[in-house]
Amino acid sequence: MYRLLFDLVLRRLDPEQAHAWSFALIRGVSDVPGLRWLVGRVLGGPPTGALTLWGRRWPSRLGLAAGFDKDGHGVLGMTMLGFGFVEVGTVTAQPQPGNEPPRLWRVLDQQALRNRMGFNNEGSAVVAERLRRLRATRRGRAAVIGVNIGKSRVTPVEHAATDYATSAGRLAPYADYLVVNVSSPNTPGLRDLQAVDALRPVLEATRVAADEATVRAGRGPCPLLVKIAPDLSDDDVDAVAELVAELGLDGVVAVNTTIAHDLGPGGLSGPPLLSRGLDVVARLRDRLGPEAVIIGVGGISTPADARGYLAVGATLVQAYTGLIYRGPFFAARISRALGVDASRSRTEV
Ligand SMILES: Cc1cc2nc3c(=O)[nH]c(=O)nc-3n(C[C@H](O)[C@H](O)[C@H](O)COP(=O)(O)O)c2cc1C
Repeated sequence: MYRLLFDLVLRRLDPEQAHAWSFALIRGVSDVPGLRWLVGRVLGGPPTGALTLWGRRWPSRLGLAAGFDKDGHGVLGMTMLGFGFVEVGTVTAQPQPGNEPPRLWRVLDQQALRNRMGFNNEGSAVVAERLRRLRATRRGRAAVIGVNIGKSRVTPVEHAATDYATSAGRLAPYADYLVVNVSSPNTPGLRDLQAVDALRPVLEATRVAADEATVRAGRGPCPLLVKIAPDLSDDDVDAVAELVAELGLDGVVAVNTTIAHDLGPGGLSGPPLLSRGLDVVARLRDRLGPEAVIIGVGGISTPADARGYLAVGATLVQAYTGLIYRGPFFAARISRALGVDASRSRTEV
């Protein structure tokens, strides 16, 4: 059914327009209690593969990856579709329009996407206020929300730490975890921050700002993770893992889009990422030990792909491109499969 809709309608639309319309529809439906209930029934009810992490109950190990809901408009709509958590962002300290369109392309033969969005977002002050209002509601408090932060384009790389810290201070009080994104290919110089000497001050400043803000808000510390690119060499992955351990960070999100392709500018997402994503997650688990939280992302289209990430050591998984190609049943289907696995392993214990 979705395949037909995709082939006949969606793929003929400009990809960014299709995203805007579908996202508006999801948000609209989730705002109407009767419709929300109906969609929940059609999708088979809320996910049941509960996990407790960082003092919260996560309904599913599958989350929505960063970039889909950049400004935190649609958290409740996306949890309605069966995602157990939503990573909002990337949010930057300054509002910014992102790159000139066109900046999002479908790569149909690989069921992939290529984007050079460039962190279009409303800025961390506006997004923090939106999340504050969301958290003032019962449903908003029940949702598990990560917030992914990045460097504003106008901020020189030398001042990156202050830029990240500004956003962390604004957003940490409303986030269940924060992600320092140093791996998007569409902000000049950003990925150089993955080198540990550049990354250390960014992570330290972010940690301090987030801690100060959560203390002021009267809540416990906000878990902090770093998101890395699939294009790092194995040695660089190891170096990031060492830094994460040294600074006592909570974990790593792996992986962002890849620039290892010849399709034009921007980062590629979807199935071409799967194999490298699995390798990076396995490597991180080996280097970080059992305690760290690793969020595996890249190329998840089926329950088997998600299980693959969990099998090599991911604590949680995320997806974006799979949703575009597989449609509205995508998240519920994977969450249900992971929930069945979880309850089976509980009965086997
Ligand atoms: C259109 C688009 C925009 C994205 N924007 C962001 C972003 O703002 N921040 C980020 O950390 N990752 C961003 N990503 C990367 C995804 O979060 C994810 O890491 C990547 O797409 C791999 O997952 P997938 O294969 O399931 O799509 C974006 C991906 C796409 C396709």
